Parts: sequence; C-alpha cells; structure tokens
Amino acid sequence: MVLGSGLLLDVPLVELAARFRRLYLVDMVHLPRVRRLAAAFPGVSLLELDVTGTATGLCALGRRQRPVERGELEALFSCPVALPGLESADWVASVNLFSQLPLLPLEAASRLCPAAGETDLLRWQQQILVRHLDWLRQRPACLLADAVQTLRRANGEREVMDYSPWLEVLGPPGAAWSWLLVDEAESGDGSRVEHEVRAWCW
Ligand SMILES: C[S@@+](CC[C@H](N)C(=O)[O-])C[C@H]1O[C@@H](n2cnc3c(N)ncnc32)[C@H](O)[C@@H]1O
Repeated sequence: MVLGSGLLLDVPLVELAARFRRLYLVDMVHLPRVRRLAAAFPGVSLLELDVTGTATGLCALGRRQRPVERGELEALFSCPVALPGLESADWVASVNLFSQLPLLPLEAASRLCPAAGETDLLRWQQQILVRHLDWLRQRPACLLADAVQTLRRANGEREVMDYSPWLEVLGPPGAAWSWLLVDEAESGDGSRVEHEVRAWCW
C-alpha cells in the first residue's frame, strides 16, 4: 500500500504492480491521469482518503453552527490514527507526504477555532506528524520524507522548514538525497526550492 501516491512521479508503478499481488494507491484525490495509468494493472486499486484520520471529524465539527472549542480539536488530534480498511496491508510505503499531512487539518483548525493560538497549532502539527510515524511503525513499512525544505531567494536569503526533529525517533536514515523541486528558471524570480529527502525501511 502506497500512501501519498499523488501523480505517481516517484512511485515505480510498473515494478510495484509486478512485485505485489494487490497494490493499493492511497491519496486524498486521484486525478484522471492516475486513474488511467492504474486501470492498466488489474491488481492495482485506488483509495481516496485522508491518512491523518482527522478529515471526517473536522467536517463534522465544521457543520455545526457554533465555534469549535480548543479541547474538541485537542481530542481529535491526539487520539491514535484509525484507518479502517488500511490496517491489514502487509507492507506500506509513505511517499513524500509527511510534510503535507498537517497542512489542511491546521488550516481547518484555525478557521473553525479562532481561539486557537500559534502554540495550539504547533502542538497539533506535532501530534499529526508523530501519529503518522506511530501508525507506520506498527507495520512493515518504508518512509520517504521531505525532512528539510529550503527556499533560497535570489538575494541569498534562505527560509528553512525543518521536519527532522520529528524524524529523529527513527534513527539514521537508510538513504538521503536532494530533490530540486523548483530551479531558478522555473521560479522565474531567481529563487530555488530544494528538499532533503530521507528514507527509512523497517
Ligand atoms: C508531494 S506529493 C507526493 C508525490 C507522489 N508520491 C508522487 O509520486 O507524485 C504529496 C501527496 O500527498 C497527498 N496528501 C497530502 N495530505 C494527505 C492526506 N492527509 N491523506 C492522503 N493523502 C494526502 C497529496 O494529495 C499529494 O498527492
């Protein structure tokens, strides 16, 4: 089972489909292009769901007519991830979605709960990331995570998003490489975005 299969840019679909009897590609959304590619492989199934396990709860809170309490979000973000239907996979790969996991839940949380402050959002971010690792560590898995994201502006300024503190619990990665996401030509303003990807298997 591949979590964060996205556009299958860094998922070797042909090799994985040949190696496994059943292959599940999991993402929040599968675009038509991915659906067409996957349809060529009888053993490949597509699942659309939120692997943080928070979307259903956030939607339910959002449908109510009153502001959400901080404690309600705390309860949602702190309970262990439950992903019915995904628990029985015998091998899981989480592929470059680690840093994205908190984005939508935190955007929803700050919209639903105006009382939530920066400290709350940082704590919930941590809970989402740690819970993903906890869920993965309970099964044979491989994690590819964009551990450090660096934006270098044309004037030499750097902005760094560092997710590596949360990944330390896994020990040294088995492999690491640099992923040039946007170069100067593509950005158009002389800036570049580079991710340091780290990989673990257990
Ligand atoms: C950077 S892309 C990964 C690239 C992808 N592995 C590929 O080969 O193209 C991150 C993917 O994670 C998905 N994603 C982000 N948050 C998610 C969530 N909570 N549940 C499921 N998928 C999520 C996004 O939709 C996106 O496709």
